[in-house]
Amino acid sequence: ASTLGASAAESGRYFGAAVSTQYLSEAGYANTLATEFNSVVAENAMKWDATEPNPGQFNFSGGDQLVSWAQARGMKVRGHTLVWHAQQPGWAQGLTGQNLRNAMLNHIAGVANHYEGKVFAWDVVNEAFEWDGSRRQSNLQQQLGNGWIEEAFRAADAADPTARLCYNDYGTDAINAKSTAIYNMVRDFKSRGVPIDCVGFQSHVAANENLSSYQANLQRFADLGVDVEITELDVGQGTGQAGTFETITKACMAIARCTGITVWGVTDKYSWRTDNPLLFDGNYQKKPAYHSVLAALNNG
Ligand code: G3I
Repeated sequence: ASTLGASAAESGRYFGAAVSTQYLSEAGYANTLATEFNSVVAENAMKWDATEPNPGQFNFSGGDQLVSWAQARGMKVRGHTLVWHAQQPGWAQGLTGQNLRNAMLNHIAGVANHYEGKVFAWDVVNEAFEWDGSRRQSNLQQQLGNGWIEEAFRAADAADPTARLCYNDYGTDAINAKSTAIYNMVRDFKSRGVPIDCVGFQSHVAANENLSSYQANLQRFADLGVDVEITELDVGQGTGQAGTFETITKACMAIARCTGITVWGVTDKYSWRTDNPLLFDGNYQKKPAYHSVLAALNNG
């Protein structure tokens, strides 16, 4: 097929982009998104600070706007993210003990319930591990102890039994200490019946990233009985940019349980990175990386 989304769909996969709703009114942005992609995720609008600015008072305006926009165009929506150490509202940051636990569980219930039937997957927990495989010493970890991730997944499952529930992280682009710690957690969850369906590999990488174990890493997770998704793909500029996008796309295509790819933005001009890491340039022109991804989706 001739677009990213249609090409991915031929193998039952999605090809998505992270979206900042503020840019949907820009014609080039909206047209590129609607033409090339068949899935969206909110870059910020569904995070804790945006959706619950005051305790128990939910604001779904940005997320709802994106869902409506996507549904009107037949596009799928990923949910990002229910619980994260970053972008917590100020009121939650200082909570301790049972107050933080209740706030986390109430937040998950409120947001996941609101979007039930509207998002196909949730990043339930984001970025809870360090490079060495230890738990990140966030307020959640320090106040709630090791069990907080399991508690979050159980709460998400109760609030929305239909969405696929994912653990999502970066720096998991190889078989390394971090990805192995996550692997061990997923294996433990599966053995004890903790509801987890998928693992998201953010894949914020450099043009010369060593991806020699990228596919094998995804495969070992798939072999645990979870889906794998590439959730925030972007690649720094440089001679290896197109080839690196191609390697990652091919890895997903080679794994039956790799259900789709999301790039972390539509155009270089609105990327969170300054090294032009996306598939379309600032004028919405297709870059060499676009063509390598399209070919990999069609030939993979
Ligand atoms: O909402 C305020 C706005 O009111 C204010 O005027 C403006 C002024 O700077 O700031 C706005 O908040 C910014 C927000 O994006 C929305 O634009 C924050 O300062 C800024 O820190 C925030 O950055 C986001 C970042 O997550 C926060 O950690 C990026 O857009 C977003 O791309 C990035 O996404 C993360 C994923 O969620 C998780 N994985 C890593 C990825 C990249 O960091």
